[in-house]
Order: sequence, then structure tokens, then C-alpha cells
Amino acid sequence: MTIGIPKELKNNEYRVSLTPEHVAALAITHRVIVQRDAGLGSGYSNSTYKEAGATLVDTLQDVYAQATLISKVKEPLPEEYPLIQAKHIIFTFFHFAASKALTVAMQQSGATCIAYETIEDEHGNLPLLTPMSEVAGRLAGQQAAKYLEKPQGGSGILIGGVTGVPPAKVIVLGGGVVGTNAAAVLVGMGADVLVFDISKKRLKELTSHFDGKITAMLSTAKNIGAHLPLADAMIGAVLVKGAKAPKLISKDMLSLLPPNTVVVDVAVDQGGCFETTHPTTHENPTYTVDGILHYAVSNMPGAVPRTATKALSRVTFPYLMTLVSTPLNRLDDPFKKGINTYKGHITNSEVANAFQLPYTALSNILD
Ligand SMILES: NC(=O)c1ccc[n+]([C@@H]2O[C@H](COP(=O)([O-])OP(=O)(O)OC[C@H]3O[C@@H](n4cnc5c(N)ncnc54)[C@H](O)[C@@H]3O)[C@@H](O)[C@H]2O)c1
Repeated sequence: MTIGIPKELKNNEYRVSLTPEHVAALAITHRVIVQRDAGLGSGYSNSTYKEAGATLVDTLQDVYAQATLISKVKEPLPEEYPLIQAKHIIFTFFHFAASKALTVAMQQSGATCIAYETIEDEHGNLPLLTPMSEVAGRLAGQQAAKYLEKPQGGSGILIGGVTGVPPAKVIVLGGGVVGTNAAAVLVGMGADVLVFDISKKRLKELTSHFDGKITAMLSTAKNIGAHLPLADAMIGAVLVKGAKAPKLISKDMLSLLPPNTVVVDVAVDQGGCFETTHPTTHENPTYTVDGILHYAVSNMPGAVPRTATKALSRVTFPYLMTLVSTPLNRLDDPFKKGINTYKGHITNSEVANAFQLPYTALSNILD
């Protein structure tokens, strides 16, 4: 099998799917082709990939033409759609529920699309999403602090306050990996943090983990609404596996927030949990709606590629090794949950439901 690593096309996306170290291990038994300059943004030169045993190719077209297994970071962009064929297995983040165009293009290509974010472990966790959620969660705390500054469009509150002046109050919606990592950074900076989650078990874990340094509350419209007038910043960090993010804050509810409140909606990659969220880029990360500053970059870890590439490659590599040596029908069930499209069918029910498209159970079609 030939494995291809393209250079990422998304705005300011500097990650690459595999480090030269992992390419070297893969290249012992398989042909690996790497698009020239794919690793530069993460600090890996072309020669390090060559020394690792990879063949360098010049164009994206070369990668898709020569490889059957494509190892990527972010979802294919429209200019990649025509290059994707039924022979391909595409192994990357897709976040299908946020884009009907992507879903339909991948379905029609006939390719097998394996989404990092829906692969599970034996406990139902999302092992390939987790490291990027750790990165994005920590960055979310940093971004909230930065955009609270007046010259950045914020209300001019120092996140941790100072002696005699209270810190910022930050509401975190969703206390999973992103929410916990955001809270950790925010608590470290001295913010007053309130986390909402629908899982009572998770709320207990958070209270114990932070040893009383945060407030953890049940996520209901009433509880959230009551705290909005007190917020200086909010982090959106909810997830329902594979599905569109639930909209917890409607456009009307923005009027309950103080002017210049900062909203960092990390869940933007699944459509966002604010009705007013739309995806932004690192180049142009914020916009304002009704006086509320929104930050909604859908590839936040792309800004810290030297950390994020290592963290991603470390977790995807063992799955890639399994993929190159195991027929799809022999993969274990938690791994198979990553298969979102197969031979022209949508095989993830949440994705099919998101766009009212037909769903086919993978077990009915996997030979
Ligand atoms: N923008 C980016 O660059 C970026 C990077 C990494 C992750 N993400 C996204 O961040 C989101 C969160 O990821 P995660 O890894 O923390 O997921 P997670 O599964 O670890 O946590 C999600 C949490 O949301 C909670 N939740 C679900 N519905 C809720 C509701 N109605 N109210 C409150 N809480 C609710 C769940 O109980 C869970 O604790 C995902 O959409 C993920 O794809 C974005």
C-alpha cells in the first residue's frame, strides 16, 4: 500500500499528519510519499522526510494519484474533491456534520473516509480527538484573555484581576477535554470559572479535579441564562459525537451578555454552540454580533504546529499501522466507528441525520 501525506491547504494550517520519526517506521514496510514542504510549518525539512525513507513529490495531484491511503490533518477542501476517488482511504479530521458539501462530495467520490474525531476506544472516549482538544482548550483560555484586552476589541478586563479588583468571570459550556483544559488555563491565570455540562458524573469529576477552584453546574437553559449577565467571556466546548453541536445560546440571548463579552466557540468545527457562530480563520479570527466579540477558528491547533503535530502523530500512528496491515472488515468496532463514508454510502447515522441523507449501517455493506 502507498501512503500519501499532502501539504495542508487550510488557512494558516501548519500541521502535518506524521512526523519524520513515524514516517520512518511506516516506510520500513510501505511506500510513503510526502508532498514537498508538507512538514516545513511544523519544523520538519524535506530532507528529514527523505532520510526517513519517504519519496518526495511536488504536487497535491501527485499525492492523490500515487497513494491509496491518504494521511491528513484537516478535512479536504473543495480543490481536493476532484482528486478523491473510490480507491482512496482518507484518514483525517472531517467534522462532517458541519458541512453538507463535504459530506456529499466524499459520499459521491466512493472513497472510504475515516474520521479521526469519531474513532472510539473501548471506553467510548475519542482518542484521536483528545490531544487536539487539549491543545484547543488551552488555546481557548489564552484567546479569551487576549481578546478581553481593549485594543483587541474586548471590554478591557484583566483575566486574573489584581489585588482588590476581581478577576474576569468565564463561562465554559461543556466540561469535556476542551472545557477542562480551558478551565485549567483560566484557573491558572486567576479567572473565576463556571463550567456547565449535562453529565452529572462529569460535573462531580470536575469539582473533584479542580478541588473547588471552579464552579460546576448542570447545563440547563435556565441555569445558563441566569449567569449570562455576569459573564466577561464564554468558551463553547460541547460535543455530541458525530452530530451538529447543540445551539445553547440563541442570537436573542446575546442581549443578556454585557457589551464586549468575548465568545470563543471551539465547537465551531461541529457547527458551533452559539447560533451566531460561523467559522473564521487565523488570518481573520474574530467578528462582532450585537456588540459581542466572537472568535471561531475551526483549526485552532494549526497555530501551534510544533506542539500539535507531535501530539497528533503520536496518537494517529498506531492506528495507521493497524490500517495498513488489516482489512477494513477486521478492524475492531471502536476503530470502525471512524468510518463515516464507504463505497458511496454514509455510514455514520449522526452525519446522515444532520442533512436528512440516507444512512447505511456499515455492517450491512462491509465485505
Ligand atoms: N476549533 C478547533 O480547532 C477544535 C480543536 C479541537 C476540538 N474542537 C472541538 O471542540 C468540541 C469539544 O470537544 P471535546 O474533545 O472537549 O469533546 P468531549 O466529548 O470531551 O466533551 C464534550 C462535553 O460536552 C458536554 N455536553 C454535551 N451536550 C451538552 C450540553 N447541551 N450542555 C453542556 N454540555 C454538553 C458533554 O457531556 C461532554 O462533557 C468538539 O466539537 C471538538 O471537535 C475544536
